[in-house]
Amino acid sequence: MPSRATRTVRTPAASRSLRTQHFVSLLDLSPAELADVLTAGLALKKERARGVRSYGATALAGQHVALLFEKPSLRTRCTFEIAVRELGGDVIAPPQDVAMGEREPIADVARNLERWVSGVVIRTFAQDRLVEFATAAPRLHVVNALTDEEHPCQALADLLTLREQFGEVQGLTVAFVGDGNNVAASLAQGALMLGMHVRLATPVGYEFSDEIAAQLRGVARQGATLEVMRDPKAAVTGASAVYTDAWTSMGQEAEAQQRRKVFAPFQVNEALMQAAGDAVFMHCLPAHRGEEATDEVMDGPSSIIFDQAENRLHAQKALLMLLMGRSQ
Ligand code: CP
Repeated sequence: MPSRATRTVRTPAASRSLRTQHFVSLLDLSPAELADVLTAGLALKKERARGVRSYGATALAGQHVALLFEKPSLRTRCTFEIAVRELGGDVIAPPQDVAMGEREPIADVARNLERWVSGVVIRTFAQDRLVEFATAAPRLHVVNALTDEEHPCQALADLLTLREQFGEVQGLTVAFVGDGNNVAASLAQGALMLGMHVRLATPVGYEFSDEIAAQLRGVARQGATLEVMRDPKAAVTGASAVYTDAWTSMGQEAEAQQRRKVFAPFQVNEALMQAAGDAVFMHCLPAHRGEEATDEVMDGPSSIIFDQAENRLHAQKALLMLLMGRSQ
């Protein structure tokens, strides 16, 4: 297993360099572009820590970004707001009661915003809503801040954190224990694109659909593999990272009691982390402490959960800079 070490990064140009107009999925990036975003994020993090004026400080000068959130958020909302401002842009936050699709059609909301802002960061329900929005406003840059199916900005931060911890991630194994949800899907997409091995340990019925599993295997590069397993202990053995998320995601509250029963054997506790050996522990947050993970693990020496939260900022700054930044 590679040792944990911070990779030296070169400073990239602070201008747009991604081919995609929108970032509705991690699959909008090529593996090389994904690696570039992570490299830029690490460089931005270093510069911010040194307190110097970042090379990206004016990348979004004169641009506005709308933060359109239809679900609650702490990390995503705060880090996007800081990211836009630190890149020299400004944010607006349309009220939640714009109720896309109820008060007026999603496409009309998009066409209005397209006249005022350069980018829209959206947290919504079905991925189709996001795609409909992006399709209606091709001049905008639309960024997925979580849908029921994908959470690509979280995956950027997670992969950046793994790069920070291990230097090179190709060949590493990440074990996701729990629900095969949006966080798991985006993490698996990115990890497989970068040559990592992904193990997903879920109860029956909570794994990736056949369609998603086939899509994931299709994006795997450099010998990366995807294994779907039922035994959490087998999944974490020899892994470099053990990842879990809440058993009940936003919108599934009615299933919470049933899910607590089904997922109980998949709790990440000290015994499971011991089986994993030297692995780091990851969680996207918010957590239901005592359910999917114990306090001992969340607050233990292997936990890098707040590094992940911090890295939301650096990864998203890099994304915005390379997606919509202007040459300086
Ligand atoms: N991990 C994450 O997306 O956190 P928030 O829901 O607080 O944005």
